[in-house]
Amino acid sequence: MNEPRIIVALDFSNATQALNLTAQLDPQLCRLKIGKELFTAAGPSLVEQLIRDGFDVFLDLKFHDIPNTVAGACKVAASMGVWMMNVHALGGKKMLLAAREAVPPGTAKLIAVTLLTSMGRDDLDDIGLHEEPEQIVQRLALLTENCGLDGVVCSALEAASLRQLVSSGFNLVTPGIRLGDNRHDDQKRVTTPSLAIKSGADYLVIGRPVTQAHDPLSILRQLNQTVQNERPASLFNA
Ligand code: C5P
Repeated sequence: MNEPRIIVALDFSNATQALNLTAQLDPQLCRLKIGKELFTAAGPSLVEQLIRDGFDVFLDLKFHDIPNTVAGACKVAASMGVWMMNVHALGGKKMLLAAREAVPPGTAKLIAVTLLTSMGRDDLDDIGLHEEPEQIVQRLALLTENCGLDGVVCSALEAASLRQLVSSGFNLVTPGIRLGDNRHDDQKRVTTPSLAIKSGADYLVIGRPVTQAHDPLSILRQLNQTVQNERPASLFNA
């Protein structure tokens, strides 16, 4: 069995809703992402339960604080047994290095968010960042790689140019995926699973197209089929 490259975003406000969905999913076919909403509601016990149920968990809390605080948070997350966690690259080099030291290579995957995709040019100007978003994203991705982290979260539309810039083992984790049915929800710049993989994405974060589906498992099977057709598992270097 190939290792799953689909990460289902559990964007729920309580554990019951999350567990109702995960009972319909298969750990062979997906990993799970727990973000700030669900973690604030359900805490470490839900994370640990899902790990006991056989799922790999990406803890998406985007830590951003002084280096010592972020290192401490990362260490605790790793001790819960999560598969992947993330920090904000805007926290800077010292923070990224401290996080890496707290979660050594080969333990949990440690990735960074570069710029939030909700930030447009105007928002960046407001906070004194006057470059094009693409340039900032590229610089932060390189900083992240130079600090020894395992990858970045990026839009699939950024993945193709980042793939040229970073090494092949550096993971690109891409949200904003839609199944080609014209339903975008609140996502502005979306792409299909197949295009995301072609652009060099290693993992696809997919929320509502799976969580709101009538038959989530069948959508997941289709997604896995697409991913396998686009890139043979032998070329996948996770
Ligand atoms: O439901 P949907 O597929 O839009 O969910 C996408 C998930 O990826 C959500 O959990 C969202 O917070 C997350 N995400 C995103 N865009 C980013 C970073 C994370 O959509 N730039």
